[in-house]
Amino acid sequence: MEKINIGPQGFTLPMPLAILGTHYNSSPNYMALGWSTRVNFEPALLGIGVNKRHASHAAILENGEFSINFPSTEMVKVTDYVGLVSAKHTDKSDLFDRFYGTLQSAPLIKECPLSLECKLYDTVELPTNTFFIGEIIGTWCEERFMTEGLPDISKIKPFVLTMPDNSYWEVGRCVGHAWKDGKALT
Ligand SMILES: Cc1cc2nc3c(=O)[nH]c(=O)nc-3n(C[C@H](O)[C@H](O)[C@H](O)COP(=O)(O)O)c2cc1C
Repeated sequence: MEKINIGPQGFTLPMPLAILGTHYNSSPNYMALGWSTRVNFEPALLGIGVNKRHASHAAILENGEFSINFPSTEMVKVTDYVGLVSAKHTDKSDLFDRFYGTLQSAPLIKECPLSLECKLYDTVELPTNTFFIGEIIGTWCEERFMTEGLPDISKIKPFVLTMPDNSYWEVGRCVGHAWKDGKALT
């Protein structure tokens, strides 16, 4: 079958939807975040792409701290909402119940099954976005979302984003095991 080049924006890769938490003008603020990825093993580093126009961008530069919160499928609407309005015009500080771990400017969302608190480690300046690299200082979960002491995706029920069709999807069934299934070919 012939491959067709559909241009640079045609990708449809699922991205875990997260809510970025910061302190903007000393108040908690939250924004929807699709562009996040783990980038280093030890220390545990996570990279996020944040547009320079967002309040969250200024907040990270000011405080050097942020949180990454993974909502469950029941939280689609509120997650989308924090991606539609900016703290520059709308106060989003009381949308969620929050708690804090070690970092005082990284609000963690109680309603989210899984939350990471991150300390800014490095920044990479790109044309429209900054790639903020954060060191994961703490990972917060509840017993009911874990199996044998580890977060369990079937209990957390995260959702993923595809672009450019801009859709949210549930995560389906487990289809294999990493660092294991390939051994059948060794
Ligand atoms: C589904 C979704 C995913 C988004 N992902 C990102 C992202 O990864 N990076 C980014 O800079 N903006 C992203 N946005 C846009 C911001 O969430 C949005 O502009 C938000 O209103 C910024 O809020 P703030 O100005 O209070 O920081 C996303 C929006 C939506 C709806």
